[in-house]
Amino acid sequence: MDPVHVTIIHYSATGTVHALALAAAEGAEKAGAQVRLRKVPELLPAAVIDAVPAWSRHVRDTAHISEAALDDLAWADVVLFGTPTRFGNPAAALRAFMETTGPLWAAGELAGKVYSAFTASNTAHGGQESTLLALANTFYHWGGIIVPPGYTDPVQFESGNPYGTSHVAGDGPPGEVARRAARHQAARAVEVAAALKAGRRDRR
Ligand SMILES: Cc1cc2nc3c(=O)[nH]c(=O)nc-3n(C[C@H](O)[C@H](O)[C@H](O)COP(=O)(O)O)c2cc1C
Repeated sequence: MDPVHVTIIHYSATGTVHALALAAAEGAEKAGAQVRLRKVPELLPAAVIDAVPAWSRHVRDTAHISEAALDDLAWADVVLFGTPTRFGNPAAALRAFMETTGPLWAAGELAGKVYSAFTASNTAHGGQESTLLALANTFYHWGGIIVPPGYTDPVQFESGNPYGTSHVAGDGPPGEVARRAARHQAARAVEVAAALKAGRRDRR
């Protein structure tokens, strides 16, 4: 049986969201999926990045990760998006990639896939939900099947964000709870997509 295809598309300046993306990849793989981990191209000038050591370090550390392409979306049964909060919204670099998807959207190829998202912010009330809900606006336009983590696993009562895994970067890098939440979120998306895939196969 063809495994569930998961594409994880993320932007991360200083590695927080990247750590969540890696955990999500682990969760999806453990659930039996084939995974593509992708970053989106940086938009900001090198001078801005070079001025922040953690930022330039992260650019170097993730140089081996491929940039997202439209085929990564077309291939996927599940697409997980990760972004830091930027003034309560998704990062412009991720939005810029999403705005290249018009041709797939027009061909109906973004509909019927499972979508879910995760984020980080510097402070606890710094806009995690608004960022995740802003991404979901686009999933509606795509005709996506939005699969949030809700409170479907005990870890959700520890990490506490039913909209999507979220980490407060001001508290340090994602720890075991945030990484477990990301693994759970990805595994749940795979489980729903596997059921959809099997149902669609049976209908043929
Ligand atoms: C332009 C800009 C806007 C930001 N806006 C917010 C914000 O609204 N709320 C917040 O808590 N943190 C904000 N932050 C902090 C980032 O969300 C935080 O550094 C990020 O989640 C860390 O993730 P990363 O390591 O993957 O880049 C902002 C950072 C930048 C550079």
